Amino acid sequence: MQGLFITLEGVDGAGKSSHLDWLGEFFKSRGRQVRMTREPGGTPLGEKLREIVLHDAMHPETEALIMFAARREHIAQVIRPALAAGEVVISDRFTDASFAYQCGGRGLPADKLERLEAWVQDGLQPDLTLLFDVPDQVARERLLAARDLDRFEREQRDFHARVRAAYLERARLQPGRIKVVDGSQTLAEVRRSLEALLGDLVAP
Ligand code: TYD
Repeated sequence: MQGLFITLEGVDGAGKSSHLDWLGEFFKSRGRQVRMTREPGGTPLGEKLREIVLHDAMHPETEALIMFAARREHIAQVIRPALAAGEVVISDRFTDASFAYQCGGRGLPADKLERLEAWVQDGLQPDLTLLFDVPDQVARERLLAARDLDRFEREQRDFHARVRAAYLERARLQPGRIKVVDGSQTLAEVRRSLEALLGDLVAP
């Protein structure tokens, strides 16, 4: 079996979390070994870095460097070994989030992140990225209804609008890999869209 690397992305409140378990089951029911993971995090060290980066104030470049430091560990400890073993790796966020949040949201220049990406990923890219997209107002209403907000979720409306625009721009530039899913549909409708997108990846 060929390993498969799938990432889920979207602004906070776009609804990706509601589909994570379903996605895992989709592949398990087709006989695949599935590895569910997340960023920032995914390893014991990465989870410690997650706590820091989600809650402590810091320079935007420090924030980007911590995201990539956690990612380096995640790739070495989890992603590469699982892919080599033929598993389906499903990660709740990956590098597109750094371009969306640290570049789009915080305003860091993309070329700095491109250098980190080349260094840390050494050619590794997701086979498929599902970008959950919803209008700014929908994401905002979902967020305000949520529990304890982290540093990113507490950001202002225009920050989230910039993050969304950066995600959509990446999807426009990499249409083969990044598929936009309309997260404002009903759960059943989103699942039908996902099944259509995943159909190509599973053996008949
Ligand atoms: P998120 O995936 O939304 O988790 P939860 O559903 O538990 O809130 O939280 C991760 C946050 O980290 C999210 O706001 C986006 C941010 N983030 C970045 O800014 N850059 C990155 O590279 C990654 C992976 C996440």
